[in-house]
Order: sequence, then C-alpha cells, then structure tokens
Amino acid sequence: MAFLSASSLREPVSANPPIRKIAGSSGVVRCAGRPRVVFQGVSLRGFGLALDGRPRGVTTAAMSSNWTDPTGAGIDTFHVPLLSGSEVAEKLREFQKNRTSKQNYMAMYSSIIGGITTDPAAMVIPMDDHMVHRGHGVFDTAAIMDGFLYELDQHLDRFLRSASMAKIHLPFERSTMRNILVQTVGASGCRQGSLRYWLSPGPGDFLLSPSGCPNPALYAIVIEGRSLPDRKGVIVITSSIPMKSSQFAIMKNVNYLPNALSKMEAEENGAFAAIWLDDEGFVAEGPNMNVAFVTADRELLMPQFDKILSGCTAKRVLVLAEQLVSDRRLSGIRLGNVTVQEGKMAEEMMLIGSGIIVKPVLQWDDRVIGSGKVGPVAHALFDLILEDMMAGPPTVRLAVPY
Ligand SMILES: Cc1ncc(COP(=O)(O)O)c(C=O)c1O
Repeated sequence: MAFLSASSLREPVSANPPIRKIAGSSGVVRCAGRPRVVFQGVSLRGFGLALDGRPRGVTTAAMSSNWTDPTGAGIDTFHVPLLSGSEVAEKLREFQKNRTSKQNYMAMYSSIIGGITTDPAAMVIPMDDHMVHRGHGVFDTAAIMDGFLYELDQHLDRFLRSASMAKIHLPFERSTMRNILVQTVGASGCRQGSLRYWLSPGPGDFLLSPSGCPNPALYAIVIEGRSLPDRKGVIVITSSIPMKSSQFAIMKNVNYLPNALSKMEAEENGAFAAIWLDDEGFVAEGPNMNVAFVTADRELLMPQFDKILSGCTAKRVLVLAEQLVSDRRLSGIRLGNVTVQEGKMAEEMMLIGSGIIVKPVLQWDDRVIGSGKVGPVAHALFDLILEDMMAGPPTVRLAVPY
C-alpha cells in the first residue's frame, strides 16, 4: 500500500496548486483603449463578448451586428437567444440526453407542481426559491435496498428537527410527507439507490427574509445506484477547512460549501475524506460521515453528537454493536470526547454514513492506524448494517409499494 507523506497530507488548501491555465490561453493581451482578455476560443473586451471559436456545451449563440458599443471602442457582439417555453423544454431535454453523469434520476416530486415526474428534463426547482439563492433549506436522505426504504422514519425525524431549527414551516403534516416520499419511490420503480428530499421556505422573491414566500416547498428525488458501497480501507487527512459551528453542524441544512471544500481538499491530497476537529480540538466528523474508533482495550468509541450531525447510520451502529459486546469482540461502547492522539493510536478507525455504510480507515495523516489493514470490528459492523438493510426489523425497513 502506498502511504502519503506527512508534508503532502498537511498542505493547507491555500497552498494547493493554483488552477491550471486554460490550454491555449494567451492571458491578457494589450490593445488600444482597454485590456483584452483572451481565453481559448472566447475573447472579452469592454462590454462586448466575442466568440472566436465555436460555441461550447449546450448553450448556442448567434452573432448579431445590431448592437452598438456606447464607448465606440469596438463592436464585438454576441447574441443570446431568446427562447420560448417550448424551446426551453426542448433544450432541457437535450441537456439531459447529453448528460454524462453515472447517476440515473428516476423520479422527482415537487410541491410546486403538486405531483411526481419521471422526466429528468422536468426535474427543476424555481430560481426564486430561497433554498437556491439564500441557502435557506434543509435536506435528508434514505437508502433504497431491494425495494425497501432503510431507516426512513429515523431520517424523517432528523429532517423535521432540521426544518424546525431552520425555521422552515412544513407544507404538509409528517404523515403526508412520508406518504409522498414513499409514493415517489414507488413511481420511480427504483429498487436500489437513494431517496433525497428537501424542505425550503419556497419561492417568493429574491429578498433575504422568507416573509414574502407564501408556501414552503417540499422536493424529493429518487436516484438509482446499483452497486453497494465496498469495505476497502481508505486514507483520511485532517481538514484545514474550518468546520461549521455546532448550531449549524447539528442541522442538515443545504449549506455544504465547507463540506464540499473539505472533500476536495481530501481528493487533492490523495485521500478519501478530511476529518474535522471541533473548536476544542476534539475529533468531530467527516464532510458527510461520522467517525468511530476501536481503542486498544477494544472499546468502540465515537464522538458525542452535540457539535456534529447525529448520523442515522452511526446511531444504528451503536445499537447493533451491542451484539459484538455480547460475544466479547468489543469490551464496551462509549460516546465522548476523542482527542486526536487517542484517535491516531486506535486499533481501528472507521467512517460511518448512509452513503458508505462502514468504511475502514487505514491511515490518518502520516499515522498508520492499527495494523494498517481492515480490522475485525469494521468488518463486523459493515456486515451488521448490511444485514439490517436487507433483513432488519420493520422499525428500519419499509416495503415500497411499486
Ligand atoms: C456532516 C455529516 N455528518 C454525518 C453524516 C452521516 O449521517 P447518516 O448516517 O445519517 O448518513 C452525514 C450524512 O450525510 C453528514 O452530512
């Protein structure tokens, strides 16, 4: 196994290599009057925008000569097409057809349209929804396994707690929302994948206060995902991106910029995830997962949930791990403050979340964890959660009516 050096892992984000210069770009070119910035195929000058090459992507543009530059410095014009509603629908369909993502969007519910669509081109939300332009929204997920929703009620509880903390009124009662979510999965026909859903103050205007938004909105989407997470060991680093304050970390709100930057920092350093430390320096969580350790005296140790998201998978692990205490594979289970030293000296370290189940960590920064191999407790917990997803009790499994 290749280990990363401490120096390559410790590089703060600000020291990451700068974004590469676009191939063929010429940088800033001086010309009479105003500077002209030339990129590959596109040049910008003053108020005009000229396409030197063919337009790229799905956006097509027509050249126009009926625009006059008020400065008189030159006329380079670029005409943005004005599209009818049906042309927009056609463009959106084209966009979806050309999409290269591996994810398949099977169905979407939107309270704006009051129904479900299976046409990915119609899976849109209004621009003036405050979730879009103010980040005022909360979300949650649930895995779909063999035609069953896993831990939907546990995720829904957290969803509603998050909505309450974000002061988002509910568009429907909990039982109605649950029903809508289950029906959306049913309409999708998806038997393996995930359900994601959002609550927001809804559309209304582009102001900050949601007082002009008459109706809160609920959106849900079903994403097909055929492969199960694997249990291969990974490398993690300590995140240099500041973590959210506890008020925002404990609610699953849509402001995942720190999480996305933290994940990118990990990827830039050849790691799977970056681990946050809290304001007191204790181990907190990863960007979309919780963290757990097995200590030298075989205790399962997890940071308590007062400053981090209370992960549904981590909480289920805490319950299922009792079996490992019964058969003496673990000496006990403890929630508490975890120092970095304690974490790095652990026999086993693992990441836990609904997207990854249980992922063993083999190295944290320059420290090899335990034997540097996937440990027996991580193996056992992965199996326990997987079995729970496939054959657990009705409290965690809900059959989807297709
Ligand atoms: C910040 C954060 N912590 C932990 C988790 C794990 O939670 P769960 O097990 O409910 O997926 C997530 C899940 O997305 C998360 O975003």
